[in-house]
Amino acid sequence: MNTLDGTNIPVHEPERQFYYIEKAKKYVAKKAKEIGRDLTFTVTTFGCQMNARDSEKLVGILEQIGYVEEADEEKADFVIYNTCTVRENANQRVYGRLGQLGHIKKSKPHMMIGLCGCMMQEPEVVEKLKKSYRFVDLIFGTHNIYKFAELIATRFESNRMVIDIWKDTDQIVEDLPSERKFAFKSGVNIMFGCNNFCSYCIVPYVRGRERSRNPKDILREIEKLVADGVVEIMLLGQNVNSYGKNLEHPITFAQLLQEIEKIEGLERIRFMTSHPKDLSDELIEVMKHSDKICKHLHLPVQSGSSRILEKMNRRYTKEQYLELVNKIKTAVPDISLTTDIIVGFPGETEEDFLETMDVVKQVRYDSAFTFIYSKRTGTPAAAMDDQVPADVIKDRFDRLLKEVQSISAEVCSVHTGTTQKALIESVNDHDASLVTGRLSNNILVHLPGDASYIGQIVDVHLKECHGFYYTGEISR
Ligand code: 5AD
Ligand code: SF4
Repeated sequence: MNTLDGTNIPVHEPERQFYYIEKAKKYVAKKAKEIGRDLTFTVTTFGCQMNARDSEKLVGILEQIGYVEEADEEKADFVIYNTCTVRENANQRVYGRLGQLGHIKKSKPHMMIGLCGCMMQEPEVVEKLKKSYRFVDLIFGTHNIYKFAELIATRFESNRMVIDIWKDTDQIVEDLPSERKFAFKSGVNIMFGCNNFCSYCIVPYVRGRERSRNPKDILREIEKLVADGVVEIMLLGQNVNSYGKNLEHPITFAQLLQEIEKIEGLERIRFMTSHPKDLSDELIEVMKHSDKICKHLHLPVQSGSSRILEKMNRRYTKEQYLELVNKIKTAVPDISLTTDIIVGFPGETEEDFLETMDVVKQVRYDSAFTFIYSKRTGTPAAAMDDQVPADVIKDRFDRLLKEVQSISAEVCSVHTGTTQKALIESVNDHDASLVTGRLSNNILVHLPGDASYIGQIVDVHLKECHGFYYTGEISR
């Protein structure tokens, strides 16, 4: 036991954090009394689904300690940015918005600003914040997010910027609160970190080494979610196909899926991201026979040129990727395939780019996220010479986007006239007489309905395809 402040502070997690949640609660209540109203917060998420899930954990803690959510960042007493650093423009966005927050804080001195997530794992970023953004109250990284309550308590006790960044961790803390954004669906982390070191990617440096959660903990979490009304889960990991390899009792991702499938009341299972090099025949077999695994696979190709793939350290060739796609399409003919593509990786020639275009034409993706290569300091690709000129990249990017869009409009429309199950997710933003549902293959459909449909899985007749989404109606 640690007796720093005269009390017995638990050493083990999650007990320690429950202790700090109680402590932070008192500070928040005291402050609320001083200003005569509840304290409010806004958590803004940048980046991927992993970050979105982390933000739910932040919100869970904030609500437990007495903060109330405020949609408008400018009005909130505590603003948290959960940052992304996968591409340089993500960092620029954070600095820009942080500057604006600084102005607001000048007229609202009790306001607190917290920064966390991937960008904070970069030492240059923290140096810059320490030097030029002194008004930030709390900075922490990706490995100690579970310590949020403790860090908030520390901030209330000192009047200084609190910084706590860990280089890496092997710890996974279970059972802390989290507040879901949607009542009926949830992300579930199955692993953290990445061991792949694709040469352009900063993720292994900011998210650390690959760690899988225990299958028992995952199953228990999903069972609890289902008991709480969740019908669809998205299993999250940087490379779900290598799940379980380093556990004390190794288990494959396909085996985990089979266990999850048995959970009664769970209707749909999604997962991302799959690395092509680790996608097993066993997984394809399980997908083929599953009633619950959605007919959607996100399979980032990154480039169609075997030469560039090697420089990217992706560990597959164009031919191997295409063979894998064929295997999947043969086993699960109605599967929807999506991908990530990087344009302008160092040394990419017109021929290399045409290989990428060729893969796009052969695979015919339902959709593809296309990115302009962004140089990330510290990654092997940043040190490669022959970086591609910006105007050449722009031209290739435009050509690729056009191809991707025209193919995806064609691919998407093949379901016109069929009836499919959709999970209704929300009332339509633009037209309140419509609701929006998601098909198993991840395509959206808009149909007449009201808020009472949200969370239900209904049969929808797909009347018309509008490029990337459908309009339809409930089929009775
Ligand atoms: N530049 C551009 N895109 C990148 N991605 C990862 N790192 C970079 C980078 N340095 C893309 C990859 C990955 C997706 C999440 O982000 O396509 O699959
Ligand atoms: Fe980055 Fe490659 Fe790991 Fe994906 S698999 S997070 S692209 S290093």
